[in-house]
Amino acid sequence: MSKDYYKTKESVEEYIELAKDVNGAELIEELKKYLPAKSKLLEIGSGPGTDWKILIETYQVIGSDNSKEFLDHLNKNIPNGKFFHLDAITLEVGQKFDGIYSNKVLHHLKDNELADSIKRQYEVLNPEGIICHSFWKGEGSEYFKGMFVNYHNEEGFKEFFQDYFEILATIPYTEFEENDSILLIGKRK
Ligand SMILES: C[S@@+](CC[C@H](N)C(=O)[O-])C[C@H]1O[C@@H](n2cnc3c(N)ncnc32)[C@H](O)[C@@H]1O
Repeated sequence: MSKDYYKTKESVEEYIELAKDVNGAELIEELKKYLPAKSKLLEIGSGPGTDWKILIETYQVIGSDNSKEFLDHLNKNIPNGKFFHLDAITLEVGQKFDGIYSNKVLHHLKDNELADSIKRQYEVLNPEGIICHSFWKGEGSEYFKGMFVNYHNEEGFKEFFQDYFEILATIPYTEFEENDSILLIGKRK
């Protein structure tokens, strides 16, 4: 893996195969406690589109990714879906949403990039808009197989999010190893 892992056809195909049995259904159940059905939702980093297909059952969802390869895959496999080429840091989307969701995407951002992303999320959300993001749980950062991974925990969330969002819930959960992940749900201040 390298920092271009999500950008080549071969590695995107490999990722899709590796991740085929993983989805965010349980995380989306948590989101539903805070964001009413039919709300307008932006997904950041839709990747293979697995979570998008679950989200569309409840929300008016627009997917996005900063990888052209993933977008080609999404447009080919979900022709009735709406997908934008967006970077999580700048979110140049030109419209407002009631909620923003991502599953294991924002951990790729360095601290300053995450801070920029959070400010942009505040700007593209309607008043009292909801954010729901999953992260790898822990401290510090590392390059894992060549990809940057920034770990987060409850304490760090406060520092990053508190200027723009009220934290409604932080929920540790298990993806591969016990409590290796954490879900954050927040409301726009
Ligand atoms: C681990 S995958 C998660 C995909 C999807 N959420 C899922 O659960 O299958 C990470 C995705 O985030 C995208 N991504 C990584 N950095 C990004 C960024 N800065 N802006 C937008 N998307 C990004 C990648 O292209 C990839 O599709």
